Amino acid sequence: MSGQIPQRFIDDLLARVDVVEVVGERVKLKKAGRNHSGLCPFHQEKSPSFTVSADKQFYHCFGCGAHGNALRFLMEYDKLRFPEAVEQLAGRLGMEVPREGADDPRAQARERKRKEGVNLLELSASFYRERLKMPEGEAARRYLADRGLSPEVQQTFGIGCAPVGWEALKRHLSERGIAEAVQIEYGLLVHHEDSGRTYDRFRDRVMFPIRDIRGRTIAFGGRVLGDAKPKYLNSPETPVFHKGRELYGLFEARQAEARLERVVIVEGYMDVVALAQFGIRNAVATLGTSTSEDHLSRLFRMVGEVVFCFDGDRAGRQAAARALQTVLPQMIDGRQARFMFLPEGEDPDTLVRREGAEAFADRITCASPLSEFLFDHAAEGRDLATIEARERFASQVLSAIGKLPEGVLKSLLLGELSRRTGVDQSRFEALVRPREVPEVESSTPPEAERGDGVVSNPQQRPGKGRQALSLMARVLQLLVHDPRLVERLPEETDWYPREDPEARLCREVERLLRAGGYRSAQVLLAHFHGTPEGEWLAGLARRELLIPQGSRAAELDGLVEHFRRHRLRPSRQEEVDSLLSKQQRGERLSQEDRQRLMVLLADLKG
Ligand code: UTP
Ligand code: MN
Repeated sequence: MSGQIPQRFIDDLLARVDVVEVVGERVKLKKAGRNHSGLCPFHQEKSPSFTVSADKQFYHCFGCGAHGNALRFLMEYDKLRFPEAVEQLAGRLGMEVPREGADDPRAQARERKRKEGVNLLELSASFYRERLKMPEGEAARRYLADRGLSPEVQQTFGIGCAPVGWEALKRHLSERGIAEAVQIEYGLLVHHEDSGRTYDRFRDRVMFPIRDIRGRTIAFGGRVLGDAKPKYLNSPETPVFHKGRELYGLFEARQAEARLERVVIVEGYMDVVALAQFGIRNAVATLGTSTSEDHLSRLFRMVGEVVFCFDGDRAGRQAAARALQTVLPQMIDGRQARFMFLPEGEDPDTLVRREGAEAFADRITCASPLSEFLFDHAAEGRDLATIEARERFASQVLSAIGKLPEGVLKSLLLGELSRRTGVDQSRFEALVRPREVPEVESSTPPEAERGDGVVSNPQQRPGKGRQALSLMARVLQLLVHDPRLVERLPEETDWYPREDPEARLCREVERLLRAGGYRSAQVLLAHFHGTPEGEWLAGLARRELLIPQGSRAAELDGLVEHFRRHRLRPSRQEEVDSLLSKQQRGERLSQEDRQRLMVLLADLKG
């Protein structure tokens, strides 16, 4: 029954149906003047900005801009395709949907395929459910009971089992006239290339049907009853199943609570089912993949808040870091993402059973907001008392902030970063918008090496944005702005890098300041007046010092400490250069040298 629906029928249908009624069945509406209004079902809001007009037969949300007629509403709200929405509206008016061009073979074939797939998968799902009740389902029943799954929750999730034999499902489906080729296409049957034999993909497993948002079975996941491998087997990609897009348990969550506000993303099938049994019915699981952008954009169309749940181990932290990167571009205002970590060795299934639903619900409530996780993660393993660590911390946070859409969250995070680093917020704002930053005069002397910047923006292209100062230039800048800081410098001058023009200048400045004649920057600059160094120092003096008064001494100590360490241990690049040039000069490298060189080169590449 495919083919185009004639436009004239659609016009007729829309003329007869009342959008207020259609919407009113799903959204609580109040009459307000000539219109009706209510809370928008397409975004999270606390005061109503969603209106439905009986005159215009149109709905419109002033908050998120969603709008359309009755058909559009059904498509969006019930997640229907256009022809399905037409069928539904026609159905309530007792009208038959006419089709034209029913002879278009391609459209016909497509539609047949979809129906065929859905039928086949539904047939299989009920086959598995039936088997679980029969004597051959004994072992699976015992397994599920051992795992503590109640009969009710098994039913809610349509759990079944695949029998032990090689051809049980194949026989069942073939008897019902379903071609083997189709069974293979939908992933139920495996075709063995060499022998040409076909056999059931799922054997002797507990079966979890994976349903789409409307509850149609589109794939399966099957778990072994023991410790065999693989523990879980999933349907392959098929015409109706794309695992990077689907979430296990989403249909069931929506069934439990039509107006879902928050979804918890966990890892496994068992976690979803166990949480549901304990009354936490808004958990969903990705299907053996990490959370994708696709997953998130689908979820955020339905809910305002997503809570990621991870194991507390290293792998869990890494997965969380990946999830953070995926979710950042989606954080438009009004959406929330939070992160929770379970104690090591636990997953939601074991934990909810051990500590109960309330304690688990508390964990969800206490999950870290995105901002907190972002800062914690960036600070992890870094001693923020050192400037290098602070620089990397700030860089990491900035790169994350750069991925956020414009909005309040972005501003708040920039403010927080500024508070935590003592660097002026406007500086960071400039860095996350590299293209709008005008070129600023370079404060680096011509021959000086380029050192690490205070905050080197990872998105910064060479020549774009503000040039970061080298570390030695920062020592000089501190001294120029605040000559009394010279007292903090160590008496010994062995921390200065050799053969570095900036270091030479810095030593000179230090000497002058210590000699006592130069108590202010002006006098110091006057000393160098008319020389290239003088110009460069003047540039540093003009350049705003981003470090607050109270932190300058510590900053200087950190810089000196950095040089001291590097002085004792040449940088990797320097070591590589010296080894390579030794080789180029024709000197033989010792065995030890060659090994060292290999390690260094591998390091530098990584
Ligand atoms: P886990 O190994 O954490 O298992 O896999 P689990 O969910 O705790 O399962 P139980 O409690 O041992 O029964 C988490 C998820 O990774 C996917 C599945 O989606 C699983 O739910 N997975 C795991 C596979 O797809 N294949 C596997 O072999 C293992
Ligand atoms: Mn588990």
